[in-house]
Amino acid sequence: MKAWRLDAYNEDVPAAIEGMKLEDVPVPEPHDGTVLIKTAYCSVNPIDWKLFSGGFDGFFPVKVFPYTPGFDVAGVVEKVGAGVTDLAVGDRIICDLGLVESCVDPPLKQGAGGAFAEYCIAPGDICSKVGDADFESVVGLPLAGLTAFQALFTGSHNQDLGHCKEGDKVLILGGAGGVGTIALQLASNAGCHVTTTASAAKFDFVKGLGAKEIINYHDQDWGEVLAGQDYDMIFDCIGLMDDLNVRAPKVLKKGGKFISIANFDPSAKGPDGVEFAVFLLLSKTTDLDKMVQMVKDGKLKIINDKVYPFAETPAALKQSLGGRSSGKVLIKL
Ligand SMILES: NC(=O)c1ccc[n+]([C@@H]2O[C@H](COP(=O)([O-])OP(=O)(O)OC[C@H]3O[C@@H](n4cnc5c(N)ncnc54)[C@H](OP(=O)(O)O)[C@@H]3O)[C@@H](O)[C@H]2O)c1
Repeated sequence: MKAWRLDAYNEDVPAAIEGMKLEDVPVPEPHDGTVLIKTAYCSVNPIDWKLFSGGFDGFFPVKVFPYTPGFDVAGVVEKVGAGVTDLAVGDRIICDLGLVESCVDPPLKQGAGGAFAEYCIAPGDICSKVGDADFESVVGLPLAGLTAFQALFTGSHNQDLGHCKEGDKVLILGGAGGVGTIALQLASNAGCHVTTTASAAKFDFVKGLGAKEIINYHDQDWGEVLAGQDYDMIFDCIGLMDDLNVRAPKVLKKGGKFISIANFDPSAKGPDGVEFAVFLLLSKTTDLDKMVQMVKDGKLKIINDKVYPFAETPAALKQSLGGRSSGKVLIKL
């Protein structure tokens, strides 16, 4: 099969992306608890290229080089490993291959991810069946969707957080991105009053996804615009330290939550009066099933910015690295 592979960490991430190679490798065999998937689509997430630098090695070591990157996959089950009872050959599934499952707990033996290939191995217990859903409409869901859903409502791993509810005032920083576009819809559907930050050119876009108020982060300071408005939660998809320490305390009610998916700086603690949490998603079938159903019911739409052919996978990663996408960047096999 053909697989995109990275030989080694490289602090120069654009150079690392350029250096990816499309290689012929054996089709992997599913081992216990896993399935072999024939890949139809992948979706790109910033963590794909963030791992390239080696900067995450302390938390999420890539233990096998060369390795095939990519976490989000949509495809058809081709073979089933021992012990998998919920999936059968021919099932159409989506899955986030899992950062923790890849690198930590226990490592999947395939580096990190493995999606950007004609076939990949996935743990059977983190796949969601999508029935006859169009793959292009759901492949962007696993990593970004689980993140938005769990951070807003349930928490993940051992973290119990979120609990957004009707009437809550929620500010989403970065509403136009892959996670933000899903978070806007989920919070709005839950009856929250949703405000977001975006470029002026994307105002109509985020309004269509449920934002009631929009702040152009290029020329307005949301900490000043929303000061004193007693927000219940800020969902941070951007990761700036001043957003946490300087702006959030002006905007949140006392004890209001600042949940960040992008600020992993160990010095980030949050100022007095702000309940700060760094969040990491958990790849979980039951949560993903709920969101697949929302898509099927027309309650949630995964917005795709651009679809690249498999041969142009490095270009898809470069677009993600640019940080300006509106919704998801996809790869079609
Ligand atoms: N911890 C976790 O579990 C977890 C899970 C998923 C993602 N993440 C992290 O969360 C972050 C967002 O991920 P993503 O997939 O949503 O990224 P993305 O799709 O690449 O985000 C791109 C969007 O961000 C917007 N943006 C950039 N700078 C902004 C700013 N200062 N203020 C407001 N909007 C801004 C851009 O809008 P404009 O074009 O208008 O600038 C663009 O629409 C990444 O750092 C990712 O690694 C963490």
